[in-house]
Amino acid sequence: MSRVIYNTATTLNGFLADDENSLSWLFVVPGADQAESDFSGFLAGIGALVMGSTTYEWLLDHENLTEHPEKWYYRDIVSFVLSSRTLPEIPDADIRFRNGDVDAIWAELSDTAGDRDIWLVGGGDLVGQFADAGHLDEIRISVAPVTLVSGKPLLPRRLESDLLTLESVQQAGQFAELVYSVRSGD
Ligand SMILES: NC(=O)c1ccc[n+]([C@@H]2O[C@H](COP(=O)([O-])OP(=O)(O)OC[C@H]3O[C@@H](n4cnc5c(N)ncnc54)[C@H](OP(=O)(O)O)[C@@H]3O)[C@@H](O)[C@H]2O)c1
Repeated sequence: MSRVIYNTATTLNGFLADDENSLSWLFVVPGADQAESDFSGFLAGIGALVMGSTTYEWLLDHENLTEHPEKWYYRDIVSFVLSSRTLPEIPDADIRFRNGDVDAIWAELSDTAGDRDIWLVGGGDLVGQFADAGHLDEIRISVAPVTLVSGKPLLPRRLESDLLTLESVQQAGQFAELVYSVRSGD
């Protein structure tokens, strides 16, 4: 059965990116290679992914995708980008731009994923919207040995221990990989 999984790297104190949306703090952490080898296995089980517009624009910019569309890494996965704006498209990539409540896109998203899982790429509030709608099953975080003063939050919602169960703990280089299952609130 398809699951909705939030899989991301985070700082020790719960930030996805700094205030300028930079991930420079992440790329210098030793052990990313080990974490990435597991990541291809994770991607193989994904039927659709969802990201917010800041994350999409970061990818556009970071990979220079307008000039190098071949660098779009998720060509085999249908991608949903949530935005209220018109964003640049990437040729030959199956990217669906949607605007509105999670409930309004849920049927299309779950049909698209089929038996495979749905990856919530981020950001944190987008994942919070899925949690609010009762569509968040698992959180997989790779915690980097980094703290930031401020930045983009990992998951700005209150989910207490009655909803989150620690399923596994693993070390990959300097990352602590934690997997939590999520029980929907009543
Ligand atoms: N550490 C990691 O591994 C990791 C993982 C993921 C992301 N990141 C980074 O973390 C940062 C996240 O940025 P962010 O917190 O701003 O989050 P984001 O989810 O990437 O973007 C938020 C924006 O998406 C649009 N949006 C969200 N929900 C929507 C909805 N239901 N309908 C329509 N539009 C919606 C809104 O913008 P508009 O309507 O104005 O378009 C909103 O301001 C980025 O810099 C990203 O690169 C890091």
